[in-house]
Amino acid sequence: MEGSGNDPRNFRHFFAASDLARLYKEHRPTYPLILYKTIAEYLGQKLSPPFSLAVDVGCGSGQSSFPLSLYFDGVLGIDISAAQISEAQSHPDKPRNVEFRVGDAFEIASGDSSATLVCSGTAAHWFDPIEDFYREVDRVLVPGGCLAIFTYGTLRVNSGQNSDQINDAIDTFINHNGATAFRPQKAEDALDNNLNYHIPYTDKTRVDSLTGEFHWNLNQLVGYLSSWSFYQRYIKSRPREADPLLQLKIRILELNSGAEETLMPVTFPITLFMGRKPLE
Ligand SMILES: C[S@@+](CC[C@H](N)C(=O)[O-])C[C@H]1O[C@@H](n2cnc3c(N)ncnc32)[C@H](O)[C@@H]1O
Repeated sequence: MEGSGNDPRNFRHFFAASDLARLYKEHRPTYPLILYKTIAEYLGQKLSPPFSLAVDVGCGSGQSSFPLSLYFDGVLGIDISAAQISEAQSHPDKPRNVEFRVGDAFEIASGDSSATLVCSGTAAHWFDPIEDFYREVDRVLVPGGCLAIFTYGTLRVNSGQNSDQINDAIDTFINHNGATAFRPQKAEDALDNNLNYHIPYTDKTRVDSLTGEFHWNLNQLVGYLSSWSFYQRYIKSRPREADPLLQLKIRILELNSGAEETLMPVTFPITLFMGRKPLE
């Protein structure tokens, strides 16, 4: 289905390609464990553990489904992309209480009032219209259950004197004219660390203090950026154009005096939105 239709913003099929799913599994950063602890503590303010079911919507290859299994009796990861689900299911470390299914955010394969948590990591910007997702979440959540939406923002490299230039080069890649046509406004907002979700519950909160911290060499950094669906769509649609990721790689290599293995401290801001369905 990848590439079906002429509309470059035909988002629902962005993640259908198996090569993209493989890039995801290999290169997507995990989230820090404190993120899941923060969500579990929020849930615990109104509900007592053990928590029964967490549904991870737009689960990709299971980046959040696996750690959620520490806090829930069962986790259901759903994703519109069969390729992503296949990568998630074949993961050698898949915990026994985690199940994956191909499915749509607008028709969650879980009964009414069946889930203690519905979460979505760096995926809800694809759910359009988001109100239909909120309605479906409200159907599956138990009273007092929570919706948690979290997103990585733009990574920053903090590698000493070259950081500013490396970050400028990354920004040039992100803002590449051709590639921006392939992402929705909310993905732009996430990259600008400007994302907002209006979860339709009165009891809600937003956490901006979490970050993902890594030490990556050049190939890890480039591998992560290559897993961006809009970049993959761009290079497939313009095979004759210069590859903006290759240009970025060459620039960072220059700035790091040709040392490919130099480890660069990399930080991602994480924004977490949580809302609680009323108890009654
Ligand atoms: C950027 S990935 C995030 C994967 C993972 N949750 C993470 O945090 O790394 C977004 C995922 O959302 C999925 N997705 C997009 N639209 C969807 C929909 N309507 N229903 C279910 N999944 C969807 C895509 O297939 C993709 O795997």
